[in-house]
Amino acid sequence: MTATPDERFERARAAFLAGLQALQAGRDADAEAAFEQSLALMPGRPSTLMNLGVARLHQGRAEAALQALDAAVAADPGLADAWGHRGVALAALARHADALASFERAVASGAAPDTVAMHRLLALGNLRRYDEALQVADELLSRHPGDAEAWLQHGRTLHCLGRARDAVESYRHAVTLAPALAEGWSLYGQLLKELGRREDAAWAFEQALAQGAEPELHRWFLAAVRGDEAPPQPPASYVERLFDAYADDFDEHLQQRLHYRTPQVLAEMVTAAAAGRAGGRPFAAALDLGCGTGLVAPLQAPLAQALDGVDLSAAMLAKARALGLYRELVHGDITAHLQATAQRYQLVVAADVFVYLGPLDAVFAGVRRVLEPGGLFAFSVEATPEPRPVLRNSLRYAHGEAYLRDLAAAHGLHWQAQRSGTLREDQERPIEGLCVLLAASAQAA
Ligand SMILES: C[S@@+](CC[C@H](N)C(=O)[O-])C[C@H]1O[C@@H](n2cnc3c(N)ncnc32)[C@H](O)[C@@H]1O
Repeated sequence: MTATPDERFERARAAFLAGLQALQAGRDADAEAAFEQSLALMPGRPSTLMNLGVARLHQGRAEAALQALDAAVAADPGLADAWGHRGVALAALARHADALASFERAVASGAAPDTVAMHRLLALGNLRRYDEALQVADELLSRHPGDAEAWLQHGRTLHCLGRARDAVESYRHAVTLAPALAEGWSLYGQLLKELGRREDAAWAFEQALAQGAEPELHRWFLAAVRGDEAPPQPPASYVERLFDAYADDFDEHLQQRLHYRTPQVLAEMVTAAAAGRAGGRPFAAALDLGCGTGLVAPLQAPLAQALDGVDLSAAMLAKARALGLYRELVHGDITAHLQATAQRYQLVVAADVFVYLGPLDAVFAGVRRVLEPGGLFAFSVEATPEPRPVLRNSLRYAHGEAYLRDLAAAHGLHWQAQRSGTLREDQERPIEGLCVLLAASAQAA
């Protein structure tokens, strides 16, 4: 027997209420099922669609949430909360301009501005509209001066605007108001480090660790500011996050603003060494370690019949792939890749990558493993007179010539050439470095 419209309405309502209860209890999957059941009985109800979107958002399914929230605002364009949740879904999908428009629509539809102010602030930050973000943060703080999260975002925005000293004050407010805010301590420490206040930075990193901040990363930060024996490399997740965020601006920033020339210097050294070798493309296969966006590729690809790359950052690799100059691009750690790959090469290049690796024994062993006898290995390092690798306050490692010479000798790699000089700038100061060319022994490793 088919249900009457009244019965269907009652069943839809009961399912909707069960969904709300489940949502409140944090049983998001049950809530989703209940809202779907309600919609099957009474399709298109805006509030049910909105709550379905929220249940999906809570489960981290932004794309599916957006579908429901789009349908909710289409069914009732005046549903302010649905615009707000839709903004959150769009932000989770990194569609920051659309998210901002959705938050603004929420306010225009009657949402209290404070309910979406933090979301607007984050969206503006992601869109690099820092002046507007600062205005939103100032307004928020004028109404809620005790809001630690708002102080944190205020500091972050000031930092992005280059107002480091003002940002310190905002972070200080954030951690004073909320001493358990691990992220606040971490950002505070990173800024103090940048300002050369190493002891204060170390103290802030210790607080961050005590409040549960990522241990591996913060121990690494501590080693950098204290000059302690450093871990062998930064956490892979840190490198990946750093370069994923940097990928869009990397080429322009490095080449135009930091006057980065390492790929050119290494290419000149390799070209000179290859002059005596036969053929237009003297290397059958070359490997670019930490290839990033592929700045090395246009210079080395003409020398090699095939060029492969490996890098930890998926966003950097996507840029490299778009060049169309690489045969194979591997998403992974350099050392692990060198230890595992079945490919063999006549040339291995590493431009501005060893700054993210401390001791290089495993890398040299790996390079020797993949290099064919007589093959070349060209790389750059930031230079130090120290006999061992050092982790600098800049969070980059530096390596000395004596250390590299010992390592090369230990791995059957012969010193062919070196060039010292400025590799690039950092905060308007030249970074002195060393570019080195080694050749593998004629005997197999
Ligand atoms: C400063 S960029 C240099 C990129 C490129 N070689 C160039 O000269 O433009 C450093 C790159 O090394 C990568 N990287 C750092 N540590 C790595 C590791 N352990 N394994 C793989 N890639 C790494 C980063 O993701 C980043 O793309």
